[in-house]
Amino acid sequence: MRTHYCGEIGEGEIGQVVTVAGWAHRRRDHGGVIFIDLRDRAGLIQLVFDPDAAEMFAQAERVRNEFVLEVTGLVRARPAGTQNPHLKSGQVELLGQKLEILNRSEPLPFQLDEHVGEETRLKYRYLDLRREEMRERLLLRHRITRAMRGYLDAAGFVDIETPMLTKATPEGARDYLVPSRTHAGKFFALPQSPQIFKQLLMVAGFDRYYQIVRCFRDEDLRADRQPEFTQLDIETSFLDQDQILELMEGLIVHLFDSVLGVRLPRPLPRMSYQEAIRRYGSDKPDLRIPLQLVDVADLVKGCDFKVFAGPASDPNGRVAALAVPGGGKLTRKEIDDYTAFVARYGAKGLAYVKVNEAAKGRDGLQSPILKFLSDAAVEGIMRRTGVNDGDLIFFGADSAKVVSEALGALRVKVGQDLKLGEPGWRALWVVDFPMFEWDGEAKRWAAMHHPFTSPVNLDYAALAASAGTAIAKAYDLVLNGSEIGGGSVRIHLQELQSTVFDLLDIGPEEAQLKFGFLLDALKFGAPPHGGIAFGLDRLCMLMAGADSIRDVIAFPKTKTAACPLTDAPTEVSEAQLRELHIRVRVPVKVE
Ligand code: AMO
Ligand code: AMP
Repeated sequence: MRTHYCGEIGEGEIGQVVTVAGWAHRRRDHGGVIFIDLRDRAGLIQLVFDPDAAEMFAQAERVRNEFVLEVTGLVRARPAGTQNPHLKSGQVELLGQKLEILNRSEPLPFQLDEHVGEETRLKYRYLDLRREEMRERLLLRHRITRAMRGYLDAAGFVDIETPMLTKATPEGARDYLVPSRTHAGKFFALPQSPQIFKQLLMVAGFDRYYQIVRCFRDEDLRADRQPEFTQLDIETSFLDQDQILELMEGLIVHLFDSVLGVRLPRPLPRMSYQEAIRRYGSDKPDLRIPLQLVDVADLVKGCDFKVFAGPASDPNGRVAALAVPGGGKLTRKEIDDYTAFVARYGAKGLAYVKVNEAAKGRDGLQSPILKFLSDAAVEGIMRRTGVNDGDLIFFGADSAKVVSEALGALRVKVGQDLKLGEPGWRALWVVDFPMFEWDGEAKRWAAMHHPFTSPVNLDYAALAASAGTAIAKAYDLVLNGSEIGGGSVRIHLQELQSTVFDLLDIGPEEAQLKFGFLLDALKFGAPPHGGIAFGLDRLCMLMAGADSIRDVIAFPKTKTAACPLTDAPTEVSEAQLRELHIRVRVPVKVE
């Protein structure tokens, strides 16, 4: 039908007769002349209809917003002063010669430029996606996946699909289950990731695998989490950790360069997990915010303030300071709000010191806790935090976990509130993660990444003796404070895998039941292998400058994991349930 996309017609086409097709974005009647902005995937073009051609003019008068039109016309320069510098086609217009209304539209439930609630946007997602911002985001997502495929193809990766109807995988979220009709009482699990299958593909000898693949996790949703989300999933053989990181940062650097024209530094900086927690209180530090945590336990040990003295001499405790440049201007109310903010992370308070005049030492400071601190402590804290007049120091004292999480989150919040962050892109690898973390509730070790991750030290006995300090060959890629990818070198020796299962309190029977097929595969010549998975939605969200991953997913779920468009999930008929050998405990409403 068309010869050109609306948004792609420019001065080069002046004098040509073209045919365009799309939606009537806006119609204006101007003293006998009708203007219609016609919209398609590429953008807008202004159509002009003169009353000279009476029949066509009458047709143009019938056009309403969102009618579907096919228009043939002559491209001409817009009269001086009527150009629109914001449009690609803003220098030209199309003088209508033929207009056909291909379809009509009822008035939309909301105007495309109107601000409407997300529930409504998702219910009429196909209309929401007509908006330029949303269209651009999905087109950007396409350019991102195309660049990924291009890079990986050139690097010798093969795209292989893995099953959706499978068995529980070990990413630690709740599974989405699918009942089996042919095996009464049995269920498939939708994959939380293709983790085990990609390892099996390495055992099969494919050497380099990738897949842009849907993963399913039934977990509490946030702005950066969806129950079904997409990973760029990757696995390689015969590469060590450094080689994997190098190949993968090549991918990210290529992506930013080719899609956004942004040059990231290469190599990307690397930081150990321990250093990230110590300086930023987080394993996904946002390096755009310059504030850092400073440990002061040694300075306040034995002081009169029990709140500090206790954690300062507890091996699992932490006392840390967070200096905020210009924080002296924070009001009592603002400090109270920050105290409530850190309480969400378990902090029992938020002590602070305002620095009015640093040169005056103790007398130049203002704080409810000053009286508890010795001169030496005060001096030490000021020196270590490097504060100046007008600054403020926050303190956290508790278990190391609470202090790191609370001050780590406060660091980002205060940095954003006071606009202390730098613009741009800050990517880094976080490496040297602990192998295990202690699950206080279950009273056992849990794998920090997943149970197939290789420890740095392959000595089984040493690993068993010091699980708490064992370091994993695991790595995360962090971008502007968001974890956009994570992976590891895997265990390829069956004995080591069994040892790790033991440490995780997964007995031989349970291991055989859950992962027997992997343990078997490791017996038949598994090569050294490792990989990573990038969160495609998160990456697209950041690259698109969106606030939520829902904004870069065509048909996302709401925060309660439902779809307002299709109304899924829904009840099903008794007959279907019977076929699946299922009885539902809540009554089923079927008309
Ligand atoms: P992991 O569980 O760290 O690793 O997931 C990899 C990346 O996927 C993204 N992600 C999510 N994105 C949106 N919504 C979610 N609910 C969600 N959960 C995770 C994150 C994360 O960094 N099999 C391993 C990878 C490997 O070892 O190779 C895995 O899935 O950006
Ligand atoms: P209190 O003696 O409980 O009134 O506390 C004195 C100051 O210490 C207040 O500013 C509290 O917010 C702060 N505070 C209390 N507990 C902690 C804690 N665990 N870490 C940091 N500051 C705290």
